[in-house]
Amino acid sequence: MTVRINPSILSADFVNLQSEVERLSSADLVHVDVMDNHFVPNLTFGPRMVEGLQSVSPVPLDVHLMISDADRWAPGYAELGAFSVTFHAEAAANPRATARALRERGARAGLAVKPGTPIEPYLDLVPEFDQFLVMTVEPGFGGQSFMPETMPKLRVLRDAVSRFGGDVWLQVDGGITVETIGVAADAGADTFVAGSSVFGADSVERAIDDLRAAAGAHRHDG
Ligand code: DX5
Ligand code: ZN
Repeated sequence: MTVRINPSILSADFVNLQSEVERLSSADLVHVDVMDNHFVPNLTFGPRMVEGLQSVSPVPLDVHLMISDADRWAPGYAELGAFSVTFHAEAAANPRATARALRERGARAGLAVKPGTPIEPYLDLVPEFDQFLVMTVEPGFGGQSFMPETMPKLRVLRDAVSRFGGDVWLQVDGGITVETIGVAADAGADTFVAGSSVFGADSVERAIDDLRAAAGAHRHDG
């Protein structure tokens, strides 16, 4: 079973983002948190920065939109050529149409849910998406503690994805460390976002390796 480690540049040095991104060549994807100070109480960057990062990143970009009115804004990130674009269920009036718009523009479509948002209303949409993101902290900031109470949603999703049989990735984001990654892997996650545990380490490369090994040790399904 494939394990993907996507470092989040939210915890990188924003003044030197090019050199920070260039350190991530052993990652699977670079996770880019777009925040609008409205859907979440924090502000990061928009399309121009995403476009610029993509031109210098050694691996493709995994864009996580924490913005309101996702139906309106998400397709533009796919037009920039982002590998995957994930938007929040809480911020979309028509997630099915938005997923189709993303796929038509060549991106993998992702649907994210906050810790308090149930997943059951979205299970019918499994065939429309390439990835689901179960937030394991409240979105907005790095460095928070992993919320194990979100794990039942991953198990439900893993079950739904197995029944569907398609190539749908299950991502977790928030508080992922070598201590918590195994819990998420056991619950069915295969794609792991990590901000502070990667950029807070002495060696970014070793942190990515350690996370990969810790997740791999916990995978026991096929
Ligand atoms: C939080 C972001 C995360 C954040 C995770 O809202 O979506 O991607 O960077 O940071 P850590 O890994 O430090 O919890
Ligand atoms: Zn994120």
